[in-house]
Amino acid sequence: MSSSTITISPGSLEATNGSGHGAPAGAASTGRSPKASITNVISSFQSNSPAAEPFPARFSALKKQIWKDGLVETWRQVLAELEGAVEEIKEKGSEIIPRVSFSDIQRGLSHDQLQALRRTGVIVVQGGIPKEEALGWKRSIQEYAAANKDLLKGFPPNNIQMFEIYNSRSQLLARTHPSVLQTQIFLNSLWRTSDPNSPISLSTPVSYFDRLRIRQPDAASEKGRFVLNGLSPHIDGGSIERWEDEGFRKCWDKVLAGGSKWKEFDPFDATPRLEANQDLYNAPNQCSVFRTWQGWTSLSTTGPTEGTLRVLPNLSLATAYIILRPFFRSTSPTSLKADDWVVDLENPTFPGSKITMTQALSNDTHPHLRLNDSIVSIPKVEPGDQVYWHCDLVHAVEAEHLGKGDSSVVYIPAAPLTTRNVEYLQAQRENLMKGYPPPDFPSDEGEARFRSRGTPGDVSTEEGRRLLGLSPFIIPDGATEGAKRVIEEANKMLF
Ligand SMILES: [Fe+2]
Repeated sequence: MSSSTITISPGSLEATNGSGHGAPAGAASTGRSPKASITNVISSFQSNSPAAEPFPARFSALKKQIWKDGLVETWRQVLAELEGAVEEIKEKGSEIIPRVSFSDIQRGLSHDQLQALRRTGVIVVQGGIPKEEALGWKRSIQEYAAANKDLLKGFPPNNIQMFEIYNSRSQLLARTHPSVLQTQIFLNSLWRTSDPNSPISLSTPVSYFDRLRIRQPDAASEKGRFVLNGLSPHIDGGSIERWEDEGFRKCWDKVLAGGSKWKEFDPFDATPRLEANQDLYNAPNQCSVFRTWQGWTSLSTTGPTEGTLRVLPNLSLATAYIILRPFFRSTSPTSLKADDWVVDLENPTFPGSKITMTQALSNDTHPHLRLNDSIVSIPKVEPGDQVYWHCDLVHAVEAEHLGKGDSSVVYIPAAPLTTRNVEYLQAQRENLMKGYPPPDFPSDEGEARFRSRGTPGDVSTEEGRRLLGLSPFIIPDGATEGAKRVIEEANKMLF
């Protein structure tokens, strides 16, 4: 991981979350289980994972259990396609990331736009929120932070840029903004259930509270006194769990079936996700809900080199490669040719995976991804633009912010209604009332004693109140049996 400037979030480290080690001050007073602060989370990423141990022999047995001879052919096919895909990304750069206007979403995206979104797994939505409204949210957050500066926490502690703020009025207004809601309903509609009895309503969005960043340019910060870490390439949602957890592994059934079956892999099938355990080892910084899309809404004009998000804009192919990679080793250190890679089921290592850590990727662990060519920065965004990336997408954060203005976002992911997500929503609602951080985040008193905190009363729309679990959900037309059941159960639980 490079050591320069930046950002963090849970489950995603470009957005942030924590669950982990050590009991922050205040945990006892709130009676909640200890979770990591943003400082602890960043420290754990900076220290090259003190918790990581070499993988025990049983992981070799796991490889043998999963292995099928037909995967040799799959591997060859994936490597061949990956070569062309990386070349295309290298040639197009940030332009390959689909950018649509909010009015496109209102009208319905074209076939080409939809295809680009499904293929890349990332999207920029421009113009849904008026620029002045988004800048107003930022001003209000800055006033809120200033009014409560004696109680405020964040990173770095002496000049906060990643704020431990979850319950400001601006965040509530941003999360429940009609354009954000409509965008998220659209994005969740790209998912499907392979079993209509799956307990999930994809057309019922629920809110997952997260932090925000207001990152100052490197030139304006006191370099040397603090350093926010640039986040190297990773995927949110666990690491070894992708193979070790039977439920999670079902998501890659087609990839692991052998031969050409991998071409039927659908990263938008929600059914297997509902049984996936992404956190077998109580790792820090894990998002514990099913989050279909990680996302943020911009509060600044920010482009490449200004501390922004970077992504590998290829979803299915990169995922297939990452899932197959642990079963092979190179016989010629620098060669990417399929002939120079052989099956290796004896080595218990899963490259880039570490117990209790996020799945990491580098040129050493995943050379065929050619990360120097395949990871590109999000193009320039304006205040109010939204960015979303699929939960399996490889992403990173620029280490440097060479721009002149602040690089600022509120993390607002998309999540559908599921049994697990409504349990979380119930706890998150309770914490909102008290001003505590949401359940996946530090277990201290948070904003409980802050002046001018956001409250449910700030949310005036019925749709917004439903998103926060404050008003009963409605069964939409065409709901599957599973969706009807989960909505009924959610309403019983919450009201
Ligand atoms: Fe992340």
